[in-house]
Amino acid sequence: MYERKDTLYRRAKAEGLRSRAAFKLSELQRRLRLIRRGDAVVDLGAWPGGWLQVAAELVGAEGRVLGIDLVALAPLDDARVVILEVDAADPALPARAREILGRPADVVLSDMAPKLTGIAPRDAARGAELLETARCFATATLRPGGTLVAKTFGGPEMEAARTALRARFGRVRLVGLDATRKGSSELYIVATDHRA
Ligand SMILES: C[S@@+](CC[C@H](N)C(=O)[O-])C[C@H]1O[C@@H](n2cnc3c(N)ncnc32)[C@H](O)[C@@H]1O
Repeated sequence: MYERKDTLYRRAKAEGLRSRAAFKLSELQRRLRLIRRGDAVVDLGAWPGGWLQVAAELVGAEGRVLGIDLVALAPLDDARVVILEVDAADPALPARAREILGRPADVVLSDMAPKLTGIAPRDAARGAELLETARCFATATLRPGGTLVAKTFGGPEMEAARTALRARFGRVRLVGLDATRKGSSELYIVATDHRA
């Protein structure tokens, strides 16, 4: 387990990636082809910026990527990427995002995670809140046919979110990744074909 963790960590460093989490988005892309050239992508919970780097590469020269986090990110030195230091639950954010992107988003990514307290019910409740935040932001920001990818840690809250998402998306899948640390309950909900 530690060897695998170290390998991905070292690979991220060697490739100039800001986090080992970058490999999760690469794996999602390899398996599901979620992001296309020219896409407008929003990345919720973007710090330190691994997913932003991968997304910017995938959208190519004509695409746009907007990164959101409570924590300030070091700038990416990439004209395609805009970063906002703000709570993803800010009710003004969907309108601001559409303005920055110049159009509704094609893909919303959420790798948001709460700061863990170690108190399981509190951590689960906070995780569920972030999932709900991602769902609300996505349904307010995505174009018809658009895609949401959101991190979850399972439990009844995840089931409630999947049910709510099925009302607004044509297909809702649950994906576990090889790049996730062993022993983690982390999963990603992938909701495609947004119905505006
Ligand atoms: C696992 S990290 C993201 C790693 C990132 N995907 C990468 O590749 O580098 C989770 C992030 O979610 C952010 N976050 C948690 N709650 C948030 C909120 N309400 N609004 C915005 N960001 C939030 C945290 O600040 C943290 O930086």
